[in-house]
Amino acid sequence: MTTPIVEMRGIQKYFGAVHALRNVNFTLMPGEILGLVGDNSAGKSTLMKVMTGAYQRDGGDVFVDGGLTHFKSPQESRDFGIEMIYQDFALCGNLDIGQNIFLGRWPKKMGIFIDRERMYREANDVLKRLKVDVNSVFQKVESLSGGRQQSVAIARAISFNPRVVIFDEPTANLSVMATERLLETMAELKKQNVAQVIISHRLTDIFAVGDRVMVLKRGENVGDRYIKHTTEKDVLELIVSGKPETALTADEARARAA
Ligand SMILES: Nc1ncnc2c1ncn2[C@@H]1O[C@H](COP(=O)(O)OP(=O)(O)O)[C@@H](O)[C@H]1O
Ligand SMILES: [Mg+2]
Repeated sequence: MTTPIVEMRGIQKYFGAVHALRNVNFTLMPGEILGLVGDNSAGKSTLMKVMTGAYQRDGGDVFVDGGLTHFKSPQESRDFGIEMIYQDFALCGNLDIGQNIFLGRWPKKMGIFIDRERMYREANDVLKRLKVDVNSVFQKVESLSGGRQQSVAIARAISFNPRVVIFDEPTANLSVMATERLLETMAELKKQNVAQVIISHRLTDIFAVGDRVMVLKRGENVGDRYIKHTTEKDVLELIVSGKPETALTADEARARAA
């Protein structure tokens, strides 16, 4: 029996008077690709930020590898192998690709000098691991297209050797080609047994790469389906008029996966 890599039970989150997450359940299995969908303000980003420790929950439990956790910051969840890629990528445009991938932890020589050779070699390695083709790791990030910038943000995340990667609306501003590349990258990461969450309005993308899809509506679970057992039409129906239900428990998820 497999333990979920992340499980959240009964998550509550308030922003002042706004009840953003109402008793939300969430399960992610190792190597699984989960689509997280729902209308604007459904609580998708908030749920993922609760998972990484970027936001503190007001109720409920977060388990990683079956153990209860209380991440105080994304830095703490990173140490557990959880990486979130934000919509705006959070890169430094005036620095080059290699510098961005290792931002805040440039490799050092003799404790003081930046080991440029190692930094660019490792940057190349991680881009290769992703099968991402950038012309040169010395290019400034601001000179890259949106899709390439995203590749750099992903490469940075991958360089931490994560076990879980969360993509928050990654294809919203991407060209068709760049979207294809992203989906290939996700498939590649899946082969390496990295669990992934993709938040997207584009059900086609989720149905192309996903194993399962979870639907939130106004901060509540309204559906959790295996891709092979559902259709885009049914998921759309849940997004628009789904009734709150309890998501799969870990046992149910396992039973269905069997
Ligand atoms: N930092 C914040 N401060 C105040 N309200 C927030 C904050 N983040 C999210 N919210 C509110 O929580 C609700 C869910 O937002 P969000 O998780 O961003 O939705 P989604 O990602 O599904 O579009 C919305 O009503 C939003 O306005
Ligand atoms: Mg969002």
